[in-house]
Amino acid sequence: MRRRPADRDQPVDRRAHHHLRRTGMKIGILGTGAIGATLTQRLSAAGHEVKVANSRGPETIPDEVFTAGGRAADASDVVTGVDALVVSIPLNRIPDIRLLVDELPAGAVLLDTSNYYPMRDGQIAALDEGQVESLWVAEQLGRPVVKAWNAITAGSFSAKATVTGSPNRLAIPVAADDDADRALGMSLVEDTGFDGYDAGTLAESWRQQPGTPSYCTDLTREELRGALATAVAGRAPRRRDLAMSVIAELTKDVTIDRGDDFLVRVNRLIYN
Ligand SMILES: NC(=O)c1ccc[n+]([C@@H]2O[C@H](COP(=O)([O-])OP(=O)(O)OC[C@H]3O[C@@H](n4cnc5c(N)ncnc54)[C@H](OP(=O)(O)O)[C@@H]3O)[C@@H](O)[C@H]2O)c1
Repeated sequence: MRRRPADRDQPVDRRAHHHLRRTGMKIGILGTGAIGATLTQRLSAAGHEVKVANSRGPETIPDEVFTAGGRAADASDVVTGVDALVVSIPLNRIPDIRLLVDELPAGAVLLDTSNYYPMRDGQIAALDEGQVESLWVAEQLGRPVVKAWNAITAGSFSAKATVTGSPNRLAIPVAADDDADRALGMSLVEDTGFDGYDAGTLAESWRQQPGTPSYCTDLTREELRGALATAVAGRAPRRRDLAMSVIAELTKDVTIDRGDDFLVRVNRLIYN
């Protein structure tokens, strides 16, 4: 059964999510960077109807983004009439899209890929004080989110997709408070070439933030289970910043090719 775009003022029947049709969904994507571009390609290839926007306008989005389908749109168009919206923009830009997100149909599922990097985003006091990143995002956007695709590097996301059931398939953690929303997130992760792993509620999603054992370390479903369980609260921010410093130092000399898995190798060393 296809979900009808709900009127914003109508109460949302959460049970309807359980019957959500998982193919041919209407999906909006905000952000066409490293992650947003791959999302557009994979979700289009999986048969979804995808429209994407950046901050500068549809004409600035390169054609390569649409090799498997999808179309460029204005940001205001991307939130209209969709079943799901994926936000894939720098975390410090999230407050800028609040008014856009307010225009989403009430029943649409909101997914977010973001991570907090103070070096890039500037210091955000609530996050420095330990607020879980996905809860901060939900607070900024005024509605619950599904946290997905945050814990895979752009390189692995682009290069390591496999079909469902492949041996040693990599898994991506998906956290949300609503079971049906989380199931939808996992299904969309599957569509992008990875096992969707049920990582529980948003309150638990600090376990998949930068600096934790599960973060961008290319793990299978079984490995991910252990990595999420062994995360230690409060340890990650220092390790996140340490990894950033190590990566900055080791990539200064651009003539040295560190190999495709360089980021994953650094993360595995520092985050475990
Ligand atoms: N790179 C990774 O390895 C990786 C992995 C997992 C998760 N993530 C997270 O996913 C998010 C996106 O990462 P990325 O590496 O893809 O970023 P990116 O390459 O820097 O691209 C960011 C995109 O967001 C768009 N954008 C910025 N502000 C916007 C706004 N107000 N409205 C609409 N679009 C806006 C930018 O458009 P303009 O260029 O037009 O401004 C650009 O297309 C970040 O939060 C990041 O932490 C990244």
